[in-house]
Amino acid sequence: MSEAIAYLNGEFMPLGRAKISVLDRGFLFGDGVYEVIPAYGGRLFRLDQHLQRLDHSLRAIRLDPPLTHSQWRTVLRELLQGDGDQSVYLQVTRGVAPRRDHTFPSRPRPTVVAWATPMDAGPPRPARVLTHEDIRWQWCHIKAITLLANVLLRQEALERDCHEVILIRDGKVTEGAASNVFAVIDGVLVTPPKSRHLLPGITRDFVLELARAENLPFQERDLYAGELAHAGEIWLTSSTRELVPVIELDGKPVGDGRPGPLWQRLYRRFQDYKQAFRRER
Ligand SMILES: Cc1ncc(COP(=O)(O)O)c(C=O)c1O
Repeated sequence: MSEAIAYLNGEFMPLGRAKISVLDRGFLFGDGVYEVIPAYGGRLFRLDQHLQRLDHSLRAIRLDPPLTHSQWRTVLRELLQGDGDQSVYLQVTRGVAPRRDHTFPSRPRPTVVAWATPMDAGPPRPARVLTHEDIRWQWCHIKAITLLANVLLRQEALERDCHEVILIRDGKVTEGAASNVFAVIDGVLVTPPKSRHLLPGITRDFVLELARAENLPFQERDLYAGELAHAGEIWLTSSTRELVPVIELDGKPVGDGRPGPLWQRLYRRFQDYKQAFRRER
C-alpha cells in the first residue's frame, strides 16, 4: 500500500501532510471521539453500526455530527486503497479554540480526520493476558480519544510479555484495554452486559450473532473475576483483532493452554462470513 491518504476537514492529502493546530482541543484535552472500522475486500464492515456508535459518542460529549452518514460513507470509501483487508481510523475533536480553556468554545468547529491502514491477514496470535483493576473513568461506553489509562495498561501488558489486560471493576470483568471479553463457563458463552463501564463493541455484537447462528448457548451477564480464573475458554474481540483466543491468564493456562473448540468453531464461522462478505461486492 502506498502512503495512506488522509481526509482532514474536507480535503484529501497524503497522511504525512495532514497537520492540526496545537490549539486543537483533541491535542490539549483529549476532547474528542473516534471509530475504527474494518474493511474486507474493499467493503466497510458493519459501517452503519459504527456510524451509529459514533453518533452516540458525539451526543455523549455534546458535539453535533460534522458529517451525515452518507457523507461519511463517501469519505471513508475514498480512503480505502485496493481490496486488501484494511481498517479506517476516524476522529472528531471539538476543534481549535482561541485559547486553552476547559469549557466549550461558543461555536465549536470540529476537526475531522480519517485514514486507512492495512490489516494483518491470517489467524490471530493466541494471547497471554493479565488481569488488572479497571483504573479508567466511569464513561467507558463513549469511544473517547482520551486513552491514557488504556495506554498505560497496554504498555504494562507488553512489558510483562502479555498482549492484553482484562479489567476488573468491583470484582467483575468489564472489558480489555482495547477489546471486549468472552468466557466459556460450564459450556456457556458469557460476556458482560453493556453498561457505562464498557464499550459496546461492534465485534462483540457480531460474535453474539454468530453464536446464535451456531446454536451456542450464551448469556450477557456479570462475569466475576473468580469465574474467569476457571473458564474453559476466554476470547477477546475487536474490529482489528477480530476474535482472539486467550491461552494464558495471569501466568496460568486457560483450559488446556490451547485455543478451545468453541473458539475454533466461531472463528471458522467468522472467516466464512467475511469471505462471503468480500464476494458480495
Ligand atoms: C476499550 C475497548 N473495548 C472494546 C473494543 C472493541 O470494540 P469493536 O469491536 O467495536 O472494535 C475496543 C476497540 O478498540 C476498545 O478500545
